[in-house]
Amino acid sequence: MGKTILITGSNGLIGSEVCAFFARRGFEVHGLDNNQRAVFFGPQGDTRWNQRRLESSITGFRHHELDIRNRSGIDELVREVAPDLVVHAAAQPSHDRAAAIPFDDFDTNAVGTLNLLEACRQHQPEAAFIHMSTNKVYGDGPNRLPLVELKKRWDYADEHKEHGIPETFPIDQCLHSLFGASKVAGDILVQEYGRYFGLPTCCLRGGCLTGPNHTGVELHGFLSYLVKCNLEGRQYSVFGYQGKQVRDNIHSEDVANFMHEIYLKPRCGEVYNLGGG
Ligand SMILES: NC(=O)c1ccc[n+]([C@@H]2O[C@H](COP(=O)([O-])OP(=O)(O)OC[C@H]3O[C@@H](n4cnc5c(N)ncnc54)[C@H](O)[C@@H]3O)[C@@H](O)[C@H]2O)c1
Repeated sequence: MGKTILITGSNGLIGSEVCAFFARRGFEVHGLDNNQRAVFFGPQGDTRWNQRRLESSITGFRHHELDIRNRSGIDELVREVAPDLVVHAAAQPSHDRAAAIPFDDFDTNAVGTLNLLEACRQHQPEAAFIHMSTNKVYGDGPNRLPLVELKKRWDYADEHKEHGIPETFPIDQCLHSLFGASKVAGDILVQEYGRYFGLPTCCLRGGCLTGPNHTGVELHGFLSYLVKCNLEGRQYSVFGYQGKQVRDNIHSEDVANFMHEIYLKPRCGEVYNLGGG
């Protein structure tokens, strides 16, 4: 029998890539999104174009217009769809925006994640649950590590950090932003549902993720936004580090591929950094 995947945030950069990736592998694909990005960031953040692209390019694609904060709606959807794999990529993704909308931020990133986890525990406890977390759970701790300035970028001075910080890097006693704090709550809940309830859950702590289908705005999705400014002849503001890159960028298709590997061999309460610094 064919496998079914439920992807939250399916209009977004990661969600839409995951939809296409798993459709190519024969999955029945269910996307969930309410275009909240347009509410968070205004018309420049409108993701409907990406939803239409998925609807016209993926045979049998089902879009569910639902808010992850709607607890009973999420419970009902997980029961009805009965997914074998859940990829949770819906979020309020910006530090700066979170400070202006603390309740929307926390209700989406923390409570929305809990709604999904509990629905899975009730109806689909065997389903692999992959959560898009972020390296912002480490707060500003990594910023205290010494850097060296190279020709085009900054790198960690410590050669043992050539591949970035480990997942054991401390997450507390540092500054997170409200966004970082709500993502920590979601990340810990995902781990807990793995360790306490034995669900096959996993957190991916992304760094800078990018790809062709990001609806880039100044507050989130810098590479997409940079290209957009360039094409439209708009001014692009550089913040800090003399304009040199500090973090590496990972393509959204590589993220989807990584998720597929996790799906094939899931573990409980696992955590992976996706990206170096
Ligand atoms: N893009 C990056 O560089 C990056 C880096 C690290 C972590 N992440 C994480 O990866 C995940 C996906 O990021 P992205 O870049 O694809 O973001 P995105 O904003 O492109 O996609 C998120 C989608 O979720 C939807 N959404 C938001 N709130 C919702 C709600 N309450 N109900 C239903 N849908 C809702 C939005 O409309 C949007 O389409 C997020 O959890 C983000 O924190 C992203």
